[in-house]
This record gives sequence, C-alpha cells and structure tokens, in this order.
Amino acid sequence: MQTLLDFTRSVRDGLSKPRQRELPSIYLYDEIGSALFEAITFLPEYGLTRADERLLRQYAPAIIEHLPPPVLVTELGSGSGRKTRWLLETLARREPVSYYPIDISPSALAKCELELAGLGAASIVGLETSYLEGLRNVASRRRPGQTLLVLFLGSTIGNFDRPAADVFLREIRQCLQPGDALLLATDLEKPMAQMLLAYDDPAGVTAAFNLNLLARINRELGGDFVLRNFAHEARYHKRQRRVEMHLRSKRRQSVSIREAEFTCTLRKDETIWTEACHKYRVEEIPGMAARAGFVCEAQWVDSEWPFAENLLIAAPPAATS
Ligand code: AVI
Repeated sequence: MQTLLDFTRSVRDGLSKPRQRELPSIYLYDEIGSALFEAITFLPEYGLTRADERLLRQYAPAIIEHLPPPVLVTELGSGSGRKTRWLLETLARREPVSYYPIDISPSALAKCELELAGLGAASIVGLETSYLEGLRNVASRRRPGQTLLVLFLGSTIGNFDRPAADVFLREIRQCLQPGDALLLATDLEKPMAQMLLAYDDPAGVTAAFNLNLLARINRELGGDFVLRNFAHEARYHKRQRRVEMHLRSKRRQSVSIREAEFTCTLRKDETIWTEACHKYRVEEIPGMAARAGFVCEAQWVDSEWPFAENLLIAAPPAATS
C-alpha cells in the first residue's frame, strides 16, 4: 500500500533525476485520475479497452475450454468489471464461480462489485491490497483440485519496463501451481500515428489525466505547479517500442513542494516523464511466458485494433528454471 510518505519520497526522487525528471505512473490514479482513465476507455482514439472486451466477449467459451473445472478466478486490478463480465458469465453457465478482484482502490472495487452483482456468480469478494499480496491471499483460499485463473487485462503489463514485466510475471508464477492459468492482455504494435493519437486525443482527456498528476501533488503535498505552464506530450520510443507520456514545461520556471521540502527549476521545454506504455508483437509473448515459467497455450488477436489475449499456463517446476 502506498502511503503519503512513499508518494512524497517518489516525487522528490523522481523530480531530482539529473537527466530525465520522472514521476511514477502509479500516482496518476487518485479518484480524479481513475475517473479520467475510465473516460479515456470510451474515447474513439483509444481502442485498447474495446478490443479487450470484444475478444473476451467473442472467445470466452474458447478460453474456458482450456481450464479444467472447478475454476477460481482472480483479477489484478479490478477496473470497472465491464470486460470481466463476459468471462464470468460464460463460466457461470458451466459451474458456480468465485471471483476475487484485487485493487488498491476501494472505489474501484465497489464499482466492480456493483457492475457484476447481477451476474449470479456464486461469490464476488474484493480484496483491497496490492496485486501480489492479493494473489497470495487468493491462492491460500483455494481448495484441492481447483484451477486458479488470474486475469491481467487492459495491457496493464505494458506500464512496466520490459525487464520489470519479466520479474512481475515470474512473481505471479511463484504464487501458482502447475496447470493454473494467467490470461494476459497485451496491446500490439500498430502504425505510429494511431498509437500516438490513442495517448493524445483531440478532446484533451488524456492531457487532463496526465496534468492531474501535478494537480494531485499540489493538493496532497503542497506543490505550487501552475498547470497552464505545462503541456501534455505523447512520444513514441522506437527502440523500446513504447508510447511515453510527458509533461513539457512551456517556460523556465521554479516549482516548490512543501511536504517534500523540495524546489527545482525546470528549463523551457524540459519534460517530466510520467508513463510508459509498451507495445508488443504476438510472436514475442511465448518467449516472455517461457522466461517466467509459463507455456503460452493460446492467443486471440482482435481484427479491428491489434491487441491480444494470451493464455499462459503455469509449467511444472522442472521447466521453470
Ligand atoms: C492502464 N494502462 C494500461 C493505460 C495504457 O494504455 O497504458 C494507461 C493510459 N495512459 C494513458 N492512456 C491510458
């Protein structure tokens, strides 16, 4: 769980970086940031969420065919529950379902429980904690013979650096038993203009989402950022294959953050890097899976917006090393 002290330290450390100032993307998601992200998922330019939902809607029966009953479902980051509905509904036609969404945000969990309440699933129990702590908790509740299905949707894996994504997948694997499954959603590479527009929409919703991080620092840490002195920027980093969100200082300016006892001067056009959104190729997923101790059993790709659902099955320990 992130405390105010963690936030303060991360802001001070990130803004002190000598070459490229940074702010960690996890802090984009306060109440306002989460509401703005939810709005982003409806934008015509941001095709990720609709592609994710289309795939789950279309292939839920094919996905669950790979999972021997009874299945226990958990989700890392509950979101609004909109996409998960299709899987749970399909599964509920086969067997009683237990679903454990994991999220650090109590309001996200409440929304998810509300969205899925009418589903007739056997039980929905929200866990307000970090992903791995929640996953360990769910794993400890499993009964003998149950298959654990972990959902990591929305291409949230893309917000980790590639090496950190490998580490995270390995940590997930360590919570699982052979035969358990991870449904990993990944946004795929597409023409650069399309990728950039998804992170710099003409209505300015993504810009508001990004700028809200500075507003949050002002609200919670006594910062004095003048928001109109910053511009939202989306860039594509070709070698890393990622869209980066930055906040560009429109002029030379000084900024102070009371709680962090921090002051700095930003040069004109200097940027603060706030988020990385990595894009994938379908053919690189089996390798990622193998490095973490999974076998990539099946992949489904959307025909409208390049995006993939990847079903990874936990391999026996001998194949894990
Ligand atoms: C949550 N995550 C998968 C989103 C993404 O596309 O990387 C966050 C986002 N940032 C700007 N728009 C959406």
